[in-house]
Amino acid sequence: LAPKRLVGRRVVLTAGPTFEAIDPVRGITNSSSGRMGFALARACRQAGAEVVLVAGPCAQPTPLGVERVDVTGARDMREAVLAALPGSDVFIGVAAVADYRPAAAQEHKIKKSGAAMTLELLPNPDILAEVAARDDAPLCVGFAAESRDLDRHAEAKRVAKRLALVVGNLVQDGLGTEDNQVTLYDEQGAHPLARASKDVVAREIVARIAALLAH
Ligand code: PMT
Repeated sequence: LAPKRLVGRRVVLTAGPTFEAIDPVRGITNSSSGRMGFALARACRQAGAEVVLVAGPCAQPTPLGVERVDVTGARDMREAVLAALPGSDVFIGVAAVADYRPAAAQEHKIKKSGAAMTLELLPNPDILAEVAARDDAPLCVGFAAESRDLDRHAEAKRVAKRLALVVGNLVQDGLGTEDNQVTLYDEQGAHPLARASKDVVAREIVARIAALLAH
């Protein structure tokens, strides 16, 4: 049985990709499967927390005892997170949120023509940065998915967004995979974990979060 490290705590997480519509049949997204975020939601629940999981479009089964809110785009994800946030002790951003969305989603399917096409994109809100900047911010944990220079980028994200903890992974290790190899970045430095299943990695992240809450 998992140690009940988070009894009495409320945890809000995001997981999966977001989908930003271009027209009724097309959109911008990425290949996040949702596995890492769902594994973490499960591990938080097994550790005794009350858990709200805000999930982008993905095919993962809802972990037992977890309240799941399904969303599509980054702006819906932000709304759902802000609604779930009151009373929470921890916020964990695992979702691979699309940084940009089309300026206008077309109501009808765009017809093919031989001409080149330009899509105007607008920046999406940064949900984690917004939550971490609140006066009543819970303990905030970010993920950093990088294709190179993980230490440098992950540490920069931790400092810029003032996060208690960043979980860094290389996209080739973690995106869409069954296992993951992550490094935890906190005030004490970088702590690489062994490659393991996402459930095992999630339990180690929960242990770290519980230790930070106990400080
Ligand atoms: O779903 P899987 O297939 O299991 O893959 C897991 C994963 C690789 C997606 C996951 O482990 C991971 O790294 N998630 C974060 C991916 C990401 O988009 O990282 P980022 O470096 O772009 O964003 C940094 C942090 O800010 C993340 O916590 C992200 O959730 C958050 N963010 C980013 C942009 C935005 N607009 N809003 C956010 O909240």
